[in-house]
Amino acid sequence: MGISEHVLLGLLAVTGWPSTLWIPAAQADPQPLPHMNVLDCINTRRSTKTFTDRPVSREEIEQLLGTVCQAPNHRMTEPWRFYVLGPRARRAYGEALGHRKAKRIEDAVAGKAVIEKVAQTHESLPAMVAIAVTLDENPEIREENFAAAYMGIQNLSLVAHSVRLGTHIKTGAIMDDPAARSAVGLSEGERIVATINIGEPDGSPDGQARRSAAELTTWLE
Ligand SMILES: Cc1cc2nc3c(=O)[nH]c(=O)nc-3n(C[C@H](O)[C@H](O)[C@H](O)COP(=O)(O)O)c2cc1C
Repeated sequence: MGISEHVLLGLLAVTGWPSTLWIPAAQADPQPLPHMNVLDCINTRRSTKTFTDRPVSREEIEQLLGTVCQAPNHRMTEPWRFYVLGPRARRAYGEALGHRKAKRIEDAVAGKAVIEKVAQTHESLPAMVAIAVTLDENPEIREENFAAAYMGIQNLSLVAHSVRLGTHIKTGAIMDDPAARSAVGLSEGERIVATINIGEPDGSPDGQARRSAAELTTWLE
C-alpha cells in the first residue's frame, strides 16, 4: 500500500468516514463506523487498560503504524521503527518486566509468581507494538526524533480510538533493559520510546479531567 493510500486511510479513519477496511474481519455483517470528528476524538480518547478477547488483525496494525509515518518530523529523518510483538515476544517482554518487579520482592516464590503473572498478562494482550527511534549523534536531532515519534504515537492513538480500538502507552526503564531489547529484537542504534498495548476496550476507560488551557496560558502583548 502506498503512502498516499495511508494518508487517505488515516484521514478517513480520523474523520470517521465509513471505511469497511476498518471493520473487524470477524464481523459477519459489516456496518459503517459512526462518525467521529477530530475534536471529539481528541477529547474522548483515554488510555485503555483492559481489553476484550477480540483479536487485532495484522491489517489493522499496519494501518495504525501507517499513521505514525505521517507525523511531522524535522529534516524528514523518519526516525520511527516498529516492532510488532506476537504472543511469544510479548511473553518474553513481560518476563523481562516481571524480573524487574520481582527484584523488589524478598520471597522467592512470590517473586516467581509475579514474573509469571506479568508474563501472562503480556502474552494475552490482543496486540502490542514497540515504537523505537533511530539514535543520532547530534543531541538536537535525537530530541527532535523523540518528539516526532510521539507525534506519531498520538496519531496512532487517535486513529485507533476513532475505530473503537483502545491504546495504552507504556514506558519506563524496562525499555533500556537488555532482556526487553532482546525480546523486541531491537536493532543496534535504536532505542524503544514506548510500547503500546492495543485492543478493543473492555468497557469505558476512566477519564481523568484536565485543567483548562485558560488556566495555563500567559498572553503577551
Ligand atoms: C510519554 C508517556 C508515557 C507513559 N507511560 C506510561 C506507563 O509507563 N505506564 C502507564 O500505566 N501509563 C503510561 N502512560 C499513560 C498515561 O499514564 C496516561 O496517558 C495518563 O494517565 C492520562 O490518561 P489518559 O491517557 O486516559 O488521558 C504514558 C503516557 C505518555 C504520554
